[in-house]
Amino acid sequence: MTTAPRQPGLLVSFEGGDGVGKSTQLRLLATWLEEQGHRVVRTREPGGTTLGAELRRAVLHGDEMGPRAEALLYAADRAHHVDTVVRPALEAGAIVLTDRYLDSSVAYQGDGRALGAEEVERLHLWAPGGLLPDVTVLLDLDPVAGLARLEREPDRLERAGLEFHVRTREAFLARAAEGGRWIVLDASAAVDVVQAAVRERVAAALAERGADAGERRGGDADASSGERSAEGLP
Ligand code: TYD
Repeated sequence: MTTAPRQPGLLVSFEGGDGVGKSTQLRLLATWLEEQGHRVVRTREPGGTTLGAELRRAVLHGDEMGPRAEALLYAADRAHHVDTVVRPALEAGAIVLTDRYLDSSVAYQGDGRALGAEEVERLHLWAPGGLLPDVTVLLDLDPVAGLARLEREPDRLERAGLEFHVRTREAFLARAAEGGRWIVLDASAAVDVVQAAVRERVAAALAERGADAGERRGGDADASSGERSAEGLP
């Protein structure tokens, strides 16, 4: 499995079905980390860049398309996002919080669209040059409840049907069962209960990486290098 050289910063991805509350949890975590003096970059996929916003519009609100075209649009978005936003921020020692990353592609396109998890994973590891998160928070929720929480018109993916979303949820849970970078939380719990567990895990990851001091504003970034582990991947 190709992996990317380790960066001084920390990459945390939030994953899960539609309507599970990823953006709320991400925002609360960002505020907490910033209050402690960490440099935080909040971003998302698809659409974390100007080009990404165009790709997001095409894939979520554009013409119908086949599953391969869909997978490639998400891959293009991720490649550009990692090159221009995520990797530079990690190199500068920031904590990057991304609302979705490559596990969404494996779950939605690999299993949801039935393209095959392994093939999609290979493509989606190639696109960001093998960069994997240090921590992946899976907010798990019954898709019936998640889709019911949406307060606007559903996009192309949200309209894919309940069976699609059930497959996607199962795919996320199967990947998370590998352990490693994953933490699985019950998204039906109260927001502050979920947030407390997220903070605990991220604090542990920071301590483990010895990155705490290096990532504080004005501190010297720890430029240690090494291989990022491919834990959690088949
Ligand atoms: P998201 O931004 O989480 O939705 P919103 O903010 O509108 O609630 O994600 C957009 C949709 O794109 C979501 O249905 C999941 C899907 N998606 C994929 O199918 N593959 C991917 O690789 C990514 C990143 C997202």
